[in-house]
Amino acid sequence: MTTFPIFELERWQSDFEHAVEYNLSDSSVRGARLGDLLTPADVEGLLDLELGYPMVNGTERLRQRIADLYRGADLENVLVTVGGAEANQLICQTLIKPGDRVAVMEPGYRQVWGLAQVQGAEVVPFGLDPANGWRPRLEELEHAATGGLALISLVNPNNPTGSVLRPDERARIVTVARRTGAWILADEVYRGAERHTDTETASFWGDYERVVAVNSLSKAYGLAGLRIGWAVAPHDLIQPLWRRHEYAVIAAAGPSMRVAELALTPAMRARLIARQRGLTRTGWEVMERWLAANADLVSVGASEATSMGFVRYSIPGSSVAVADRIRREASVLVAPGEYLGADGHLRIGHGLGAEYVTTALDRIADVLRRAAAGAPPVLTARGK
Ligand SMILES: Cc1ncc(COP(=O)(O)O)c(C=O)c1O
Repeated sequence: MTTFPIFELERWQSDFEHAVEYNLSDSSVRGARLGDLLTPADVEGLLDLELGYPMVNGTERLRQRIADLYRGADLENVLVTVGGAEANQLICQTLIKPGDRVAVMEPGYRQVWGLAQVQGAEVVPFGLDPANGWRPRLEELEHAATGGLALISLVNPNNPTGSVLRPDERARIVTVARRTGAWILADEVYRGAERHTDTETASFWGDYERVVAVNSLSKAYGLAGLRIGWAVAPHDLIQPLWRRHEYAVIAAAGPSMRVAELALTPAMRARLIARQRGLTRTGWEVMERWLAANADLVSVGASEATSMGFVRYSIPGSSVAVADRIRREASVLVAPGEYLGADGHLRIGHGLGAEYVTTALDRIADVLRRAAAGAPPVLTARGK
């Protein structure tokens, strides 16, 4: 058997997310229900859908709806994938070869970080600076580029910090990419999850010839269960991505693609994003009150988007140990910052409804307070 770096965050979630009473480890808002989306006529249409193999690269209607969201893109620029996760995987397999150098934003969702290593590449992190509102340390990227770069991997808006790149920062990143000939993998699954504005973060697509933009229905649309994502790329990159998609999954699920077509009609898209923004913003208010009430224990740096708080805690201990104690004592799952490249933090989702989040946050505060007072861990009836 070959070995590979484990995707620790996803492993943590696979292991525990269904074994706790409150799961705040997710990076999505509470999922929308099929019934929120489908009219009786849509249901009729779905019941009539033949379950043969669907179009391998995505139905034409879905690809067109996706292309319509990107300046100057046509349906041949789109490959529909099983979540943004599959798109990231195909892109790494296609664009990274052994010995390449890949620049990755840290902290971040460590999928490309792990996949680049699987491909035999060297990962060169460039940091988001906690002391400077999680702004990117672009001098680190510029320095990394002096050794050559095959790919620059960005998550914008960022998971877990919620920071959004400013126009001047984007321009600097494109300059580095252009100078080195690197591809930019812009993972944009949190576009539309901004908290302070209703204007969606602009895609990197169109900023530079070697951009591949990834998105999905999981975050901004609250439809993670459909497992629909996509890559938008130049025509000659779509081809090898598609060839790998055939190996990996053949095609995304037909019923999911049909529902995705409906979700991306302009009116339904606007409704889903508004629903997500409502959950994200209400949840943030709950989190802000909780942070204020527990300011001796927890704090959050600047954050502009996503339904997650990247919470710094003041008690001693690694984030894995603290998250494990919270899980065992309070039956609440949060994501350890260490698994996102920044120990000393916990990633806590707040887009799951005010009541649910309030109860879970209070349980977390109880555990942190007991730990701060030096109380030994207790295994309660809730814990496993
Ligand atoms: C930045 C980022 N990209 C991709 C994914 C994969 O999600 P999905 O496959 O549901 O689109 C996630 C999930 O958390 C994510 O945070």
